[in-house]
Amino acid sequence: MRERASIAIEAAAKIFTTPGRGAIHALAPTDLLVSPGEFVAIVGPSGCGKTTLMRMVAGLLRPSAGRVSVGGQRVDGPRPDVGVVFQQALLLPWLKVETNAVLPLDIQGRRQREDGAKVRELLRMVGLEGFESRLPRELSGGMQQRVALARALVHDPSVLLMDEPFGALDAMTRETMNIELQRIWAADRKTVLFITHSIPEAVFLADRVVVMSPRPGRIEAILDVHFARPRTTALFNHPEFGRLTQRIRAMFGIGAGEGPNADAAVLD
Ligand SMILES: Nc1ncnc2c1ncn2[C@@H]1O[C@H](COP(=O)(O)OP(=O)(O)OP(=O)(O)O)[C@@H](O)[C@H]1O
Ligand SMILES: [Mg+2]
Repeated sequence: MRERASIAIEAAAKIFTTPGRGAIHALAPTDLLVSPGEFVAIVGPSGCGKTTLMRMVAGLLRPSAGRVSVGGQRVDGPRPDVGVVFQQALLLPWLKVETNAVLPLDIQGRRQREDGAKVRELLRMVGLEGFESRLPRELSGGMQQRVALARALVHDPSVLLMDEPFGALDAMTRETMNIELQRIWAADRKTVLFITHSIPEAVFLADRVVVMSPRPGRIEAILDVHFARPRTTALFNHPEFGRLTQRIRAMFGIGAGEGPNADAAVLD
């Protein structure tokens, strides 16, 4: 296993300059330190810079100011010790599940003979045993997202970045995936940055929840979540869970019983 790594975001800001529309201040100078092995969730309304922040950590986007480091090293491009899961599974439709999952090792030219067994073990861990030879179109959305998770883990990254990975799934599958993700994370405690629109999902999964606000995107608050692990779905009914999610909702102006989002506690 790789050594666990921290993420350090130091006064990192992003301004996009677009022809005709001038400068877009996507992210104000932002500081965030994520400890090795910590699970941090980010919530915030659409357009507040969550993906921008994550892409900077992934090395897919250069900050306009400030710096981003992983494991103490400045990020200046995609790194082999970082795994990424996006909202869509983004599988290659002509490759079977197993070949899709092993792709990062192929791309990095690091595939070894024994990796076949490792991939099968990972697919088993994400609940896809028996589906190794299927094509993506033969899988449900939730199963495709499990393949994407296995693919993000196959090169044993120290850091896992997830951008609304379960946003396209139905509520029941999403709950199952939350439990699965917690189990997988508990197995070797990678450092996780997890973006979501769902306040309950953030509180259920995270050690800390970062609350962002838009125009320009910035961190409004960071809340500690102290519930014991492993967490079960019974937590959703815990009074303290309700208080915490309500506190975050209030930061977005979503009051109890007000508006269409109040029950779902989803931000858009
Ligand atoms: N490549 C780009 N060029 C120009 N503007 C961009 C670019 N990427 C993002 N933006 C702008 O930066 C702001 C933040 O975008 P970002 O995708 O980070 O938001 P987000 O919080 O992830 O939103 P969502 O919840 O909808 O995914 C938005 O105003 C968006 O229009
Ligand atoms: Mg986004």
